[in-house]
Amino acid sequence: MSITQNFTNQPNPAIPLNIVAVSGGLNTPSKTESLVQNIVDELAQATPINVHFIKLSEIGPLLSGAIYRNQLPERVQNDLAAIEAADALIVGTPVYRASFTGLFKHLFDFVEQTALVDVPVLLAASGGSDRHALVLEHQLRPLFSFFQAQTLPIGVYATDKDFTPEYTVSSQQLRDRIVLAVARALPILEWAPAKGQRAQAIKEKSAQANQQLGINKQVEQAEILPSVAVPDLSSAEARLHPQTTQSSPKNHPSVA
Ligand SMILES: Cc1cc2nc3c(=O)[nH]c(=O)nc-3n(C[C@H](O)[C@H](O)[C@H](O)COP(=O)(O)O)c2cc1C
Repeated sequence: MSITQNFTNQPNPAIPLNIVAVSGGLNTPSKTESLVQNIVDELAQATPINVHFIKLSEIGPLLSGAIYRNQLPERVQNDLAAIEAADALIVGTPVYRASFTGLFKHLFDFVEQTALVDVPVLLAASGGSDRHALVLEHQLRPLFSFFQAQTLPIGVYATDKDFTPEYTVSSQQLRDRIVLAVARALPILEWAPAKGQRAQAIKEKSAQANQQLGINKQVEQAEILPSVAVPDLSSAEARLHPQTTQSSPKNHPSVA
């Protein structure tokens, strides 16, 4: 029996969601880490979650010298495997030169390019200025659209003035935005079809990817990372192009 056949169409709030939080902040303490932690805490109040928190402030120096995935130390390989197996991601970055930090992007350059198909991703960023709030829409959303992830409609942007000098959240506006983002995310997260089960299905495949993958090598999804969350596209394709798709076994077109 295939893994997909085990899923039900009913949300089951008793199964914890495997959430991977990623902060691109390079400083300690970090407003971005604080922001991401606040979002995680808000979500934890609403639904059971397991959290794997990846901080670029900790792993940045470990990955910055690596060009190929199999050059990464085990800790970072485990972080990549966690990202690829997550039920949902909460990602945040400080704005550096109007974009995400280079190390945040470097980490996601190692993520297998079909592993995040249909995975919900909540976007967050902190910047020095209100004027760069659209970093969520113009930098983060396109990156996760490349992965065919399901970027959630409400992102959270904070500026330096939303935090105390100790980097705890001080503004009511930011708190309200976090509550709204999580409230809007919840129905999508709780209906995620592979909730809690992606990790099991993808673990072995990530291990293979860690051994074999260079930064740009594409892996055939059917062989290496069958995304258990992804509905089979072949029946939809057959309705659209009955003549041409019958002989095509590919579930997903290449995103390269
Ligand atoms: C190298 C560098 C570049 C930055 N570029 C921008 C920028 O383009 N726009 C902006 O609004 N803030 C910019 N900032 C400010 C940071 O985004 C802001 O202080 C952020 O909250 C820092 O997050 P952290 O505490 O997690 O490090 C920059 C800061 C640094 C160090």
